[in-house]
Amino acid sequence: MNIVVVGPGAIGSLWAYHLHLAGHHVSLWHHNPPESGAMSLALQTIAKQTLPAVSFTTNSHDELANADLLLVTVKAWQVETALAPLLAHLHPDTIIVCMQNGMGATDAIFDKIQHYPLILATTTHGALKTDAQQVCHSGLGQTMLGAANLSGEQCTFLAEVFNHALSEVHWVSDIRIPLWNKLAINCVINPLTAIHQCPNGTLDEEPFRPIINALLSEIASVMGAEGLTTSLEELSLRVHQVIVATKANHSSMKQDVAHQRRTEIDFITGYLIQRAQQHRIAVPSNLHLFEQIKQMEQPWIQS
Ligand SMILES: NC(=O)c1ccc[n+]([C@@H]2O[C@H](COP(=O)([O-])OP(=O)(O)OC[C@H]3O[C@@H](n4cnc5c(N)ncnc54)[C@H](OP(=O)(O)O)[C@@H]3O)[C@@H](O)[C@H]2O)c1
Repeated sequence: MNIVVVGPGAIGSLWAYHLHLAGHHVSLWHHNPPESGAMSLALQTIAKQTLPAVSFTTNSHDELANADLLLVTVKAWQVETALAPLLAHLHPDTIIVCMQNGMGATDAIFDKIQHYPLILATTTHGALKTDAQQVCHSGLGQTMLGAANLSGEQCTFLAEVFNHALSEVHWVSDIRIPLWNKLAINCVINPLTAIHQCPNGTLDEEPFRPIINALLSEIASVMGAEGLTTSLEELSLRVHQVIVATKANHSSMKQDVAHQRRTEIDFITGYLIQRAQQHRIAVPSNLHLFEQIKQMEQPWIQS
């Protein structure tokens, strides 16, 4: 397939390299492309093996026009700005896959992209850019794909395409389920680790139990109102498993705050609050964390 990866940061570079290895024709689109018109990327695999650098074409309008698939891997708050200027160059059949943490990243631009086959993706792979030309695959994970509109439902074959590049990938008939389950985990781990500037494992300590319980109880109510089957016990178990399994990890929001970067809070806790308001459900504990993060990031967002 002809694939353009929009936003070749950590997760975009990981997928670009693996899709290239799987035999696809991959190019990149960046908001600040190199003057040479190409970006070189090497991959450090999960087994710490460094695979040779590959040169990817960047910001080619021809590549956009011929794209079968656009893989959008910018941060949630960058989706609209990144995608809007590209739409005029795409063929109407180009499949758009948006892979972000959180939910609601495509809402602001949905009217403009709803005529393309639209897929939402969520991944638990870990990646980080060790320098501009190298991506490190830091954690093995799973990826879920699912349709966000009617024409997206014709794209189940993509699970095989993505799985061949970087397993494990599953197609789900209702992408809201994995998205909400991940949102629930992110609503707990991300703001708490960002506020306390601690690794995920610290949240397993006794003082955090009451707040985690309060957050999850509110989240379970909102998920129930959204028509998802869950319970406080189920969510608690899942969050606890992730905290233990990733105890040494530093969440993306913790790192964003530490590096004074804009966080994805609007699309994590912010999305939960938005849905809670729709259902007239009070979520005071989540609202408090949301306000704390907004206050923390305000100085550097303004500048
Ligand atoms: N990294 C992980 O391990 C991981 C795991 C699971 C999910 N995710 C999710 O995946 C998404 C991407 O995360 P990430 O860690 O890969 O972030 P990232 O490293 O910041 O990658 C985003 C990339 O998009 C570029 N970009 C920003 N605005 C753009 C625009 N208008 N047009 C084209 N490119 C643009 C950024 O460039 P600049 O850096 O120059 O701004 C950066 O290279 C997030 O939603 C994240 O939560 C990440």
